[in-house]
Amino acid sequence: MKFFIDTANLDQIREAQDLGVLDGVTTNPSLMAKEGITGDENVRNHYLEICTICDGGDVSAEVISTDFEGMVREGEALAALHPNIVVKIPMIKDGVKALRYFSDKGIKTNCTLVFSPGQALLAAKAGATYVSPFVGRLDDISADGIQLIQQIRVIYDNYGYETEILAASVRHTMHVIQCAEIGADVITAPLEAITGLLKHPLTDSGLEKFLADHRKSQQMHA
Ligand code: E4P
Repeated sequence: MKFFIDTANLDQIREAQDLGVLDGVTTNPSLMAKEGITGDENVRNHYLEICTICDGGDVSAEVISTDFEGMVREGEALAALHPNIVVKIPMIKDGVKALRYFSDKGIKTNCTLVFSPGQALLAAKAGATYVSPFVGRLDDISADGIQLIQQIRVIYDNYGYETEILAASVRHTMHVIQCAEIGADVITAPLEAITGLLKHPLTDSGLEKFLADHRKSQQMHA
């Protein structure tokens, strides 16, 4: 399973990259705004910096347009920035057309804001590289985000679709584990959900005991 980090924060991207487990980065307009990145040139430079930090990993950059022509114009400009840019397109009618357009041109895409199996089926039919079902936002409204990942896995496996399931809006470590059990191809998560996988109290107490015993035996043989 690939690990993407879901942030536009450069320090967090660096931290995940330094850990040696990072396969890519996803951003969205809200995450860019959170970092105070505004203006076309700043946005472009920020994406380039992310691509440099996440060496060789896919970096999703989202279009703002909602019409086909606008998405194509924006997406082509984003894709021209760096070979690792993946054009992120919303699951709307013109978005489906844009997915097909970019797929035919060999440009990677990430279909975002997916909340149903039907939308995921359309994204695969249109040739999306990644489909992003939003697990956490479904859980937020008392629906079952993890069940959606299961449904999409079954549908894609039934027909051998190559679109990768990128579980998005992942909020915590259990989402990561559940997505891994189902066979999601990718998760994108905040840094804490990734580093949270490290934690176990028995690891901490076990290490403390090993080190204490080592110290004792060193003193005895000193
Ligand atoms: C990533 O591609 C999505 O934009 C992101 O995971 C949404 O996460 P949120 O629901 O926590 O905002």
